[in-house]
Amino acid sequence: MVLQKLVRLASWFFVLQLVLGQTATDNLKYVNQLIGSANGGNVFAGATLPYGMAKAVADVDSESNQGGFTTEGGNVTGFSTMHDSGTGGSPSLGNFAIFPHASCAGGDVNGCVFPKQERKVHYYPDSVIASPGYFRLYLESGVLADMTTAQHTSLFRFSFPDEGDESPLLLLDLTDLSNSRQDNASITIDPATGRMEGNARFKPSFGIDTYVAYFCADFKGAEVRDNGIFVNSRANSSVKELKINRGTNNGPLPGGGFIRFTKNPDDGILARIAVSYISSEQACSNAEKEIPDFDFRATRQAAEEAWREKLDLITVSTEGVKTSLITNFYSGIYRTMVNPQNYTGENPNWESSEPYFDSFYCLWDSFRSQLPFLLINDPLALNDMVRSLIDTAKYEGWLPDCHMSLCKGLTQGGSNADVVLADFFVKSRDTSTGINWETAYEYMLRDAEQEPFFWSVQGRGGLDSWAALGYIPTQDFDYKGFGTMTRSVSRTLEYAYNDFCIAQMALGLDKDSGVVEKYKESSNNWKNLFKKDQTSFFVNGSDTGFVGFFQGRYLNGTWHDQDPLLCSAIDNYSNKSCSLQNTGQETFESSLWEYGFFVPGDQAALIQTYGGPEAFVKRLDFLHDQSITYIGNEPSFLTVFQYHYAGRPALSAERSHFYIPRYFSPTNAGLPGNDDSGAMGSFVAMSMMGLFPNPGQDVYLITPPYFASVSIKSPLTGKTATIRNVNFDPTYDAIYIQSATLDGEPYTKNWIGHDFFTEERELVLTLGKNESSWGTRVEDLPPSLSEYIRGNGTGSENLGRRRMSMGMLKERAGLGSVEMVGVGA
Ligand SMILES: *[C@@H]1O[C@H](CO)[C@@H](O)[C@H](O)[C@H]1NC(C)=O
Ligand SMILES: *[C@@H]1O[C@H](CO)[C@@H](O)[C@H](O)[C@H]1NC(C)=O
Ligand SMILES: *[C@@H]1O[C@H](CO)[C@@H](O)[C@H](O)[C@H]1NC(C)=O
Ligand SMILES: *[C@@H]1O[C@H](CO)[C@@H](O)[C@H](O)[C@H]1NC(C)=O
Ligand SMILES: *[C@@H]1O[C@H](CO)[C@@H](O)[C@H](O)[C@H]1NC(C)=O
Ligand SMILES: *[C@@H]1O[C@H](CO)[C@@H](O)[C@H](O)[C@H]1NC(C)=O
Ligand SMILES: *[C@@H]1O[C@H](CO)[C@@H](O)[C@H](O)[C@H]1NC(C)=O
Ligand SMILES: *[C@@H]1O[C@H](CO)[C@@H](O)[C@H](O)[C@H]1NC(C)=O
Ligand SMILES: *[C@@H]1O[C@H](CO)[C@@H](O)[C@H](O)[C@H]1NC(C)=O
Ligand SMILES: *[C@@H]1O[C@H](CO)[C@@H](O)[C@H](O)[C@H]1NC(C)=O
Repeated sequence: MVLQKLVRLASWFFVLQLVLGQTATDNLKYVNQLIGSANGGNVFAGATLPYGMAKAVADVDSESNQGGFTTEGGNVTGFSTMHDSGTGGSPSLGNFAIFPHASCAGGDVNGCVFPKQERKVHYYPDSVIASPGYFRLYLESGVLADMTTAQHTSLFRFSFPDEGDESPLLLLDLTDLSNSRQDNASITIDPATGRMEGNARFKPSFGIDTYVAYFCADFKGAEVRDNGIFVNSRANSSVKELKINRGTNNGPLPGGGFIRFTKNPDDGILARIAVSYISSEQACSNAEKEIPDFDFRATRQAAEEAWREKLDLITVSTEGVKTSLITNFYSGIYRTMVNPQNYTGENPNWESSEPYFDSFYCLWDSFRSQLPFLLINDPLALNDMVRSLIDTAKYEGWLPDCHMSLCKGLTQGGSNADVVLADFFVKSRDTSTGINWETAYEYMLRDAEQEPFFWSVQGRGGLDSWAALGYIPTQDFDYKGFGTMTRSVSRTLEYAYNDFCIAQMALGLDKDSGVVEKYKESSNNWKNLFKKDQTSFFVNGSDTGFVGFFQGRYLNGTWHDQDPLLCSAIDNYSNKSCSLQNTGQETFESSLWEYGFFVPGDQAALIQTYGGPEAFVKRLDFLHDQSITYIGNEPSFLTVFQYHYAGRPALSAERSHFYIPRYFSPTNAGLPGNDDSGAMGSFVAMSMMGLFPNPGQDVYLITPPYFASVSIKSPLTGKTATIRNVNFDPTYDAIYIQSATLDGEPYTKNWIGHDFFTEERELVLTLGKNESSWGTRVEDLPPSLSEYIRGNGTGSENLGRRRMSMGMLKERAGLGSVEMVGVGA
């Protein structure tokens, strides 16, 4: 019975796999969606299209079910259609779950269990199959569930065991994953067809206000026996409409619809459920357009094709390389395109012909490498995301830093949309379509100059103090706008870099030189928080030996006294709040130690501040070797590669291999922290391809790819850029670049610009087992606002003083000839 049906289904799956597996160079087979499905990776492991709004998966009741499903052995509470991926906060979305019962005891609908808490059931861990556009598992109740999706529509297939009265039931629950449903959710059921329509209001998982989502569900596979609604534990087939409130104690009240079928067909029952933010009519028309015939196989194939298109642009030589590393790489790439979500045509908040994307969750995470990665792999999508950000600013007044489910999300530090816009602008302005850069610039300026009343969800706080003092004070006095009064150091550092990005945009758009100068100047505000004599001791009292750290400062200029190791990865003694709590620290989710490197625009000056390149390298080594940094959170990303700026690109390569695969392995528990909408995925992808961005600048730091070669096809030009390793060593002893050529000419710079991708360039790296002098000279270093001063650098000649100014940045960005004066000059 149960087994028989399983065998039938299994052989059907097998045939399907054969058919689908025929394409020759198919990177789809390297995607493991379950990476990060345990140990707090919080990924969405189910079926979705790239940027799809419909994300179908089994929801479980385990503690870290932010993405719906985990492989931590929880119970399945239902199968819902909307999800986010990799996020922290409370579980996101998880709306309109369907739950299957093979039969109801005694043939009575009230013999079925309806409430989420009671109906939940374990799944067989070995039964889980996840691949792009597809997810399935087998429940201990004997129900086999598999699913696929189109853009706004999920198609679930439930295959039931032969038991009871052979009259399976599906219920549709109005309660979401985090039980955030508000008053007056509603559902109506068409008695004849069983179609269910309705909506409910919910709370976003890391934001303010509420959102309303709508659905439309249709069923196929057997005749309708009966249908109706349920409330609490009771159902009734003579009632076809329900409006339900939240309830009082520990809401929301269980409620929704159900449908029963007259038989249990061999091919299972199909449930097609579409979602919309506009109306249930729009949800129904989405469903009818996207999956008109309930064709599971065609829907799945279309989803696979959509993913293949995204994943086949980057190809690697797999020779000699462990399959686990290839899986790591493509799974990372895959996760960069699960979120943000394309809600174009689904925005109820304002009328616009612009694209609408949401689930920027959060830009604080994704500005660092995810969105820069998309500029390479999917520039058209990024183009539309940027247009959407600008359009959102037009409606909401400011660019968002975090945004999900139509709601404003919480800002974690600076106004980092500024970096996202600048990154696109300086690298690829000419290829953008429909982006009004003047408007983009206006909103970037607004971030810097106009304080929103509620800066917890947009813009910046403390602008009066910023203007008067050149830093955000600890315990600021701010009566103009309101937000969580913490993070004075990390906000100062991020605001300073945001201003650096504004200066670059101003320069590129030929703005008044006074404006350029102003923002270049304020990009130096990090200097105001450098406390020269700040020491740092371990908890056991022994001295780290390093002196000079950023430190908070009060309004009166007096220094605050945060321990530089507080909120670091080895801070396991203070038990202090380190995130967005009111009792949080002056650094957000990390330590003064780690924030000590966040001066992305002026590494030359930072290196001098720390006593020269050698001292800088020593400090960076200490940060990593003592596990002060936490690679599971985004502020660590750039620190892996910052050795480049000290003329030691070899050490960046070493660090990259230190973390991958040790901290990023292709296993369920393989991520060191929340994937954060694909931020971790992009870290893996860009590290392994050997080009890591310093976002907001036209700079990729070069390290040897983890493969003999990597080819990257530009979807804009069709041209293919190639990086080739000569003497490639799959054991990774030879990870040191000895020499390089670009298009056949010697190339000594340790970084390269974005034209590498668009101009069909070939970078050939000759590797060896020892550090060489390649990329170590001052003229080889990436641009920096100030000049580099090379006194005692290691591994290179002493080249004395040499000017590296904004002029060079500008040259890289192709920004004309206006001279920008280096700050350190
Ligand atoms: C699954 O549900 C059972 C019964 O409610 C419960 O005892 C168990 O703890 C749940 N498992 C998990 C991992 O939550
Ligand atoms: C919910 O519905 C009730 C009954 O129709 C109505 O009185 C109430 O105003 C509604 N509440 C909201 C928030 O719409
Ligand atoms: C179902 O609901 C109808 C309408 O309220 C009611 O007349 C009927 O008694 C209910 N049936 C059961 C079994 O509760
Ligand atoms: C986003 O969705 C719209 C409407 O469905 C579609 O036209 C557009 O191509 C999508 N954009 C991307 C980048 O997928
Ligand atoms: C104190 O802790 C640090 C870091 O763990 C360690 O390197 C050092 O040896 C310890 N010192 C003493 C005296 O235990
Ligand atoms: C400055 O302000 C801080 C915080 O209120 C206070 O502790 C400190 O004593 C003040 N310093 C001076 C010099 O007044
Ligand atoms: C603190 O962390 C270190 C390193 O992870 C560990 O060895 C030590 O036992 C921890 N101490 C406490 C009090 O948890
Ligand atoms: C930190 O928390 C742990 C566990 O809750 C507790 O045992 C310890 O005493 C706390 N340490 C401090 C310094 O408060
Ligand atoms: C590489 O360095 C090691 C020690 O650091 C040295 O023993 C070895 O001879 C070097 N090899 C080459 C090829 O220079
Ligand atoms: C190199 O560094 C050492 C120690 O910091 C210093 O004494 C020496 O003067 C430096 N030499 C140069 C050329 O800067």
